[in-house]
Amino acid sequence: MATARMERKRTCVTGATGYVGSMLVKRLLERGCAVNATVRDPANSKKVSHLLDLQVLGDLKLFKADLMEEGSFDYAINGCDFVFHVATPMILESKDPENDMIKPAINGTLDVLKSCVKAKTVKHVVYTSSVAAVARKKLTRTGHVFNEESWSDVEYLASEKPLSWRYAVSKTLAEKAAWKFAKENSLDLITIIPGVITGSSLNPEVPGSVSLALSLLTGNESAINFLKSLPLMSGSISLVHVEDVCRAHIFVAENESASGRYICCAANTCVPELAKFLSKRYPSYNVLTDFGDCPANLKSIFSSEKLIKARFSYNYRMEEMYDESVEYLRAVGLLAN
Ligand SMILES: NC(=O)c1ccc[n+]([C@@H]2O[C@H](COP(=O)([O-])OP(=O)(O)OC[C@H]3O[C@@H](n4cnc5c(N)ncnc54)[C@H](OP(=O)(O)O)[C@@H]3O)[C@@H](O)[C@H]2O)c1
Repeated sequence: MATARMERKRTCVTGATGYVGSMLVKRLLERGCAVNATVRDPANSKKVSHLLDLQVLGDLKLFKADLMEEGSFDYAINGCDFVFHVATPMILESKDPENDMIKPAINGTLDVLKSCVKAKTVKHVVYTSSVAAVARKKLTRTGHVFNEESWSDVEYLASEKPLSWRYAVSKTLAEKAAWKFAKENSLDLITIIPGVITGSSLNPEVPGSVSLALSLLTGNESAINFLKSLPLMSGSISLVHVEDVCRAHIFVAENESASGRYICCAANTCVPELAKFLSKRYPSYNVLTDFGDCPANLKSIFSSEKLIKARFSYNYRMEEMYDESVEYLRAVGLLAN
């Protein structure tokens, strides 16, 4: 059950069809919360059937809302005590990132926050940011520690255009806009900043971040190239299990003294180190070993000290995270048994 602060409270989860959103809906229902889940198309059974399956767990209602339609979150948020804003546009290779990714992320986030103000019932908003809003910048030295003070460099991203720059710009500007709006409107906002999320999914499609985290085992070439690009941009790869990400969202919502940003990463690694770990733990798979110019050492780490000091503990470290993810990919047929 939830603590007194959340027990029997009505919550809203945006982006509820997604990897994180659907798992968060499940955990909130299991904790006795009522959930208003926003989806873009409630009639699309392929997208919502895994959500509808969760209705056996408790009070779950689906609402139609789109980050690109002003005011469309009003109805779902009205009457809620807690709002978890998880949705973000994910058109990663867009030819028109300004209109497909960046503007909808910023304006959609502001629209969700405006609905929270209009509702007058919302006490706390938890927004899902990303390490892409923290660490995408030119690193000039090794030993860098990314913490809650760090922000990605939007000018660098827009001029150098490294892989996934569009997503990083959208997440950085959306989170900054959310903080500005929350301060101006006295809204209690907290942001959770996860690293690459892995672990099994309720969503029928294998999430892109799981494909990325397990690419050295599956041999998925484009995912491997992306994985290799991450340490070039931020000096390391940060990983976290989806269950811990959802627990962290609920933890900060329940915690009276929580405030500000929280990095949520259980492990930091780099490609050669990850390959060594995987080949030792899962010797039956052919883990790749040729990494070209990929840095062999961590140039930076993401610090989750603030969350840990608030007494949050991770249930999944590297070993548990990968064991569970490997089981999941075996179950869906993407890895041989
Ligand atoms: N996965 C990771 O490794 C990772 C790491 C750090 C942070 N995050 C953050 O976590 C959040 C969830 O990511 P995820 O991995 O769960 O992604 P996901 O599975 O792709 O889910 C994204 C969700 O956003 C919704 N959405 C997209 N465009 C929308 C729009 N215009 N209006 C309303 N909803 C829209 C999608 O709805 P549809 O089903 O209709 O498409 C979906 O429910 C995002 O904010 C992401 O930035 C993820």
